[in-house]
Amino acid sequence: MGRITELEHPLSWHHLATLRDQRTPPHLFREQVGHLSLLLACKAMETLPLRAMEVETPLARAACRQLACRIALVPILRAGLGMADAIQALVPTAEVWHLGFYRDETTHQPVEYYRKFSSAPPEIAFILDPMLATGGSACEGIGMVRQWGVERISLLCLIAAPEGVARVQAAHPDVDLYTCAIDERLDENAYIVPGLGDAGDRIFNTH
Ligand code: PRP
Ligand code: URA
Repeated sequence: MGRITELEHPLSWHHLATLRDQRTPPHLFREQVGHLSLLLACKAMETLPLRAMEVETPLARAACRQLACRIALVPILRAGLGMADAIQALVPTAEVWHLGFYRDETTHQPVEYYRKFSSAPPEIAFILDPMLATGGSACEGIGMVRQWGVERISLLCLIAAPEGVARVQAAHPDVDLYTCAIDERLDENAYIVPGLGDAGDRIFNTH
């Protein structure tokens, strides 16, 4: 069974409070998305494989280690882009491949409008989406990344609904899920309660 990790870091609680606050303006909202994404990425990347190497410091040779595999970040457009920028800065060798979905307002089903994958899949992929609501977009994205040929997949989201967590676990039991918070429930429009509203609109100022 894939692991479910809910961050309990004090900085995660702190930045989440600002992120959820309806008074937070877009520029500050984007900043919090970046901070929380870094905290999630540090947790999710604790077990990345390393290879031993040496460098010359000004004083002597030093035994060092460097990342030993191809790592892909797969943001789900639009809102996932806010997470990818911050994590790419932390992991300079990461490749960024994109998936575009929007959620149909009536059926709440994800509709694909963009997919950009290379012919050779990376070894490890981190799918990025701030909101895991019904889990439809995440499950669709995981299925596509799996079909691409990636063996080790993790899902990083800032806020999750219990319904989405259960759906991802049932459909993709080998995927590890990292989130800053598992909220109470979905409302009648499949929005996360208490959540933060519409993540894409708040990042891109498109209310
Ligand atoms: C949001 C969010 C997820 C999806 C989550 O995207 O960023 O992709 O909804 O919902 P689900 O778990 O029920 O599938 P949205 O459709 O609002 O598109 P946007 O990112 O372009 O705003
Ligand atoms: N998408 C969002 O942006 N927010 C939600 O609460 C649910 C889906």
